Amino acid sequence: MSQLVFDEALAAQLETLYRTRDVLRRRRLVREALQAGPGDRVLDVGCGPGFYVAELVEQVGPTGSVTGVDASPQTLELARRRTEGHDNVALRLADAIALPVPDGAFDAALSVQVLEYVADVDAALAELHRAVVPGGRVVIWDVDWSTVSWHSTDPARMARVLAAWDGHLADPFLPRTLAARLRVAGFTDVAAEGHSFATTERTPDAYGAAIVPLIRQYVAGRDGISGDEAAAWAAELGERGERGEFFFACIQFCFTATRPT
Ligand SMILES: C[S@@+](CC[C@H](N)C(=O)[O-])C[C@H]1O[C@@H](n2cnc3c(N)ncnc32)[C@H](O)[C@@H]1O
Repeated sequence: MSQLVFDEALAAQLETLYRTRDVLRRRRLVREALQAGPGDRVLDVGCGPGFYVAELVEQVGPTGSVTGVDASPQTLELARRRTEGHDNVALRLADAIALPVPDGAFDAALSVQVLEYVADVDAALAELHRAVVPGGRVVIWDVDWSTVSWHSTDPARMARVLAAWDGHLADPFLPRTLAARLRVAGFTDVAAEGHSFATTERTPDAYGAAIVPLIRQYVAGRDGISGDEAAAWAAELGERGERGEFFFACIQFCFTATRPT
């Protein structure tokens, strides 16, 4: 198993993926859950290319601020370019388990599709708890990768590809344990909402189409899957799309919680 490396090439791919219709929908859902308002100080853990940072800085206005933290210099560089000119944005290179921020410095925090990559999730939750003020809200979004369902006439190959893809992160099933972990970390008002991302069309705007090249690249040469087999897997999905037979679904989870006052 070796996790995805958020290097320059992947950062560029994320830049495209994060402009798709489904990821725009995800950002809207996250921002609705976060409920940030004018003057709020917001922390984005694992901010990646900075789409949330750029949107939230408009939402909190000139009296608020947004701090983005990420462990990848390459994605942070994209975030820097995206938020250039905003003096109420701070971007920090750091790990989610050791946030370079003072205690209780934020009114709200978010972490979208990040904790599933973090080996010590409990340490990251402790850091989020420390970083927000008492009464502060956190929003955490992760995918349960076992819910991924693609129509294929080669279910054995599909199962092997998805099993290999599970190796791209630390915990492919994190949503199953996240509510309990949030409570142990000291949060209250813990709630989870599952959002289905489903499509019967292979449009580049659909999550289930946009992630195919990423998965193909990652699984090729891993767990006994050759480059040709990974290509054949992706080609089948392409052909299904052309024939009007495409089907994809997965459930992504939005957790909300509060640091008690
Ligand atoms: C799938 S991207 C999500 C980016 C962003 N949250 C979004 O949804 O637009 C995951 C991001 O988490 C970052 N990341 C992964 N592990 C991390 C860690 N231990 N500490 C901080 N950032 C991490 C990666 O560098 C990458 O930018």
